[in-house]
Amino acid sequence: MDAKRESWLQERLDLKDSLDHFLYRKVPRGVGWWYTLGSATLVCFILLVVTGVFLIMNYSPSPDHAYDSVQFISNSVLFGSLIRSIHFWSASAMVVLIGLHMLRTFFMAAYKYPRELTWVIGALLFILVMLSAFTGYLLPWDQKAYWATNVGSGIAGQVPLIGPFIQKVLLGGNTIGAVTLTRFFSLHVTIIPALIALLISLHIILVVRLGISAPPGLRDRGK
Ligand code: HEM
Repeated sequence: MDAKRESWLQERLDLKDSLDHFLYRKVPRGVGWWYTLGSATLVCFILLVVTGVFLIMNYSPSPDHAYDSVQFISNSVLFGSLIRSIHFWSASAMVVLIGLHMLRTFFMAAYKYPRELTWVIGALLFILVMLSAFTGYLLPWDQKAYWATNVGSGIAGQVPLIGPFIQKVLLGGNTIGAVTLTRFFSLHVTIIPALIALLISLHIILVVRLGISAPPGLRDRGK
């Protein structure tokens, strides 16, 4: 039955060649576990989107209800605590993995010609992932969230000349309040993940087009 369905889809969409090209690629000799960090980062992002969709169903981004809605998710919603924990740990793992992936590509000089654009898109992804973590941290609206945002926006405020402006835009005023919470929430669930998804797609398209770089020791030796 599967074979029949495949040929039905294949007949209409003609996707086999493109999928084969995407999935069955030659990789250079000598690649190993270090080369899986990009894919591991991607898995975290997928987990974050899936669990995030379920979290939004019960979260309320207002100062009066945010804290209680998070407690409600953890204590009363079916699998709420599990979903919240997966979201939290995927976010923490993504920050660690993206850092390791960046270090791997840096120390193996994978950013060199012709992969400069892959690196630049990666650097933008790094900034967006940090912004996502920063905006998400405020959402539980507890003491830890409040003071972490206070410190983070304070650091942004120290940028020469434009610092105070950035801080005001981030907070939506001079202090952390209702506008900050809704602003962080909207950034966290719309613009930032949309941009990350777009940039990851471009990043992967480039990885597929250019192929994986050989480890430095095996490069330029025809191996
Ligand atoms: C959401 C974040 C990211 C995802 C999902 C991602 C995903 C990937 C994947 C799946 C690969 C294939 C090979 C591998 O895994 O090592 C790759 C390669 C690469 N990535 Fe990323 N990446 C991300 C962030 C970054 C960052 C922050 C940088 C650097 C600033 C970067 C630079 C590169 C480069 C230069 C390559 C080519 C490596 C080679 O050809 O050997 N990526 N990325």
